[in-house]
This record gives sequence, structure tokens and C-alpha cells, in this order.
Amino acid sequence: MIELRNVNKWYGDYHALVDVSETIPSGEVVVVCGPSGSGKSTLIRTMNRLEEIQSGQILLNGRDVHGRDQDLNALRAGIGFVFQQFNLFPHLTVLENCTLAAIKLGKMTPAQARERAMALLERVGLAHKAEAIPSQLSGGQQQRVAIARALTLQPPILLLDEPTSALDPEMVGEVLLVMRDLARDGMTMVCVTHEMGFAREVADRVIFMDQGAVLERAKPQDFFTRPQHPRTQKFLADIRSPFETNTP
Ligand SMILES: Nc1ncnc2c1ncn2[C@@H]1O[C@H](COP(=O)(O)OP(=O)(O)O)[C@@H](O)[C@H]1O
Ligand SMILES: [Mg+2]
Repeated sequence: MIELRNVNKWYGDYHALVDVSETIPSGEVVVVCGPSGSGKSTLIRTMNRLEEIQSGQILLNGRDVHGRDQDLNALRAGIGFVFQQFNLFPHLTVLENCTLAAIKLGKMTPAQARERAMALLERVGLAHKAEAIPSQLSGGQQQRVAIARALTLQPPILLLDEPTSALDPEMVGEVLLVMRDLARDGMTMVCVTHEMGFAREVADRVIFMDQGAVLERAKPQDFFTRPQHPRTQKFLADIRSPFETNTP
């Protein structure tokens, strides 16, 4: 489904992705974690070419994402992306936010796009907010809309970059539940998140990054109970609350 082969990226002199190779089969849910600045956002942004790479290859269903002849609009339409800051258009209704790309790209008729978007809004529990504008919604509701929007074009893969990090704590759960349901329905997902409970329950695999490199990849039960790399061990110790004495 998605394959990274020896991907390297520099921001000027800074080596932001160091020889990353990963294969993510269809239906797999991968959680990417690691310290701030380790390259997590950079990694998933290269997967839909929001960032360029300098060497290596990224293949999505056999298509070279960074190929010279790649049509960027078509490429991005085929990959759902959810940002930390929702990025909804403030002057458009919830429904218009969801249908905009599909209609603009000519992928669906307006009627088809609306039908599809309404089904997705239903799924994230927000069909009744279709005519609202984003500022009338809570943060958690806005992020659920952003997820519905990302799915309108029926992408084979959904990328999420810290989708709950900008939310007030009481809204994190509703977004994680939507993500869990998508995962259970077989959606291929790559999610950068610090929600280790989500990783433990939902991920098929956890990837740990540090300084632009993938240092460890493991099934959640192994990752949390037997982290191999010293830096993974330190990371897991560091994210543990200093007020909890029990191990995660
Ligand atoms: N547009 C950019 N220009 C220069 N350096 C960047 C840019 N974006 C990110 N970086 C640097 O690349 C490193 C990885 O950043 P990022 O992928 O955002 O990390 P993470 O998401 O793990 O916090 C950081 O050191 C960051 O400062
Ligand atoms: Mg980031």
C-alpha cells in the first residue's frame, strides 16, 4: 500500500529524515511517536508531498508520490490528511467544507459529494451540524468534521498529524473514538500522536522516531512492555506522568 524506501530529507543543512524505510500494508494502523522535533510531521507530510524529499522513494499503491510527472492535485485527493489545527475554511459551512475538494477537482457531482459528505458527517456524529460554520462548533466537533472532510474523496489512506493535540482534554476522547471506529472498519492509517492509550488499543504497529530516524518499530504490546532501544526507553519514561508511580 505505502512503501518508503531509503527516504532522506534535508531542510537546508539539517538532515530531517535519515534513511527511512517502512512498508505499511493496506488496513494497517501505524502510530508514529517520538520526541518533539524528531521528524514525525516531516515524515507524514512527505507521504502526500506537502514536503519534498531529496533522495529515496515513496510508493503509494505502486505510484511514485515524488515522481516528476505526478499531478499534485490528483495525488493529494487520493490521500486524506488531518492536521493538528483542523484547518477548516471559516466562512464555509461544515457541509461545504466537506464537499469543496470533491467538487473543485471534478471527482463527483455536487449532489454525489453532498450525499457522501452527509454519510460521513453522520458517521462522525455531526450530520445535524451540516449547515453550521466552524466557529459555532467545539474543537472536538471541528476535528471530527476535518476527519469527515478528509474521507469525502474515499482515500485509501488517512494521515493524521497530532489530531488531538490542540483539543481541550474533555474533547480528546470523542475524536479518538471516531479514529478507533475507522481503524476497526479497515482504514489504513498513519497517525502521529502522543495518545499512548490509543496506540496500545488501536495500533497494529508503533514506530518510534528520534533525530529523523526510525529507531524502533514494534507491535504495541512489545513496544510498551519491552522497548529495545535506550532512547525509546527514555522516551517512554519521560512521557509517563511524574505523579503516577505505576508503569504504563
Ligand atoms: N520548514 C522547515 N524548515 C526548516 N526546518 C524545519 C522545517 N520544518 C521542520 N523543521 C525542523 O525539522 C525537525 C523535525 O521537525 P518536525 O518534523 O516538525 O518534528 P516533529 O513533528 O517530530 O516535532 C525539527 O528540528 C524542525 O525544527
Ligand atoms: Mg509535529
